[in-house]
Amino acid sequence: MAPHLLTTSLFLSLASLLTVTVTVTGKPHVNHGRFKAGPWEDGHATFYGGRDGSGTTEGGACGYKDKEVESYGTLTAAVGPTLYDNGAGCGACYEVKGSKGTAIVSATNQAPPPVNGMKGEHFDLTMPAFLQIDEEKAGIVPISYRKVACVKKGGIRYTITGNPSYNMVMVTNVGGAGDVVALMVKGNKRVKWTPMKRSWGQLWITEKNLTGESLTFRVMTGDHRKATSWHVLPRDWQFGNTYQATKNF
Ligand SMILES: *[C@@H]1O[C@H](CO)[C@@H](O)[C@H](O)[C@H]1NC(C)=O
Repeated sequence: MAPHLLTTSLFLSLASLLTVTVTVTGKPHVNHGRFKAGPWEDGHATFYGGRDGSGTTEGGACGYKDKEVESYGTLTAAVGPTLYDNGAGCGACYEVKGSKGTAIVSATNQAPPPVNGMKGEHFDLTMPAFLQIDEEKAGIVPISYRKVACVKKGGIRYTITGNPSYNMVMVTNVGGAGDVVALMVKGNKRVKWTPMKRSWGQLWITEKNLTGESLTFRVMTGDHRKATSWHVLPRDWQFGNTYQATKNF
């Protein structure tokens, strides 16, 4: 057998050996597949704002600006302090069930604590969301709710503001679990993987100078899944702009 043929056949048997080994002893990925809906819980709902969802877009506790809130549509909710979780709950999606029907809402704000005498967590829904689950006159209603996967069009979005010594990044349009519990940034030159800190709501900061490099972000959602948006900000990125990755959860 010619030496290169031997090498090839050795390689092939090694490859098949490896395949077998992986199949037999490979550990199952804890986080493969998609986010799965959580269990139903008791709660209660009120509503705020107008029938068209007006009055609900002015920068809430998650820090989303008008145009970011708009991308969540009119079916949003302020959620009680436990679900808001100091901002870690921003962007999560919930299916909310009332006496009339259900609505799928994104958490974009913090609601007041649970109402006395009512069970479970408090959802302060936009009027369009509330009208899907109950009659307007009902005012405050018992609901059941569960965390569901967020279904998003297009990739994860990053809005960068601030200045070279104080970069602020807002992450929106996150699919799957929808909430962000950790964010890292890496440049294509000087900046190594750097954890960003939650400032408040869904706003993340770093004092590293990120200017002049293409930037890659790695998002970890509440279910510990990670997504990396390679070079989502081009080298000539500008403060005040929003950049959309090609991928999502
Ligand atoms: C940040 O980095 C850029 C590119 O290297 C440089 O031109 C700029 O002076 C730096 N700014 C600060 C505030 O360090």
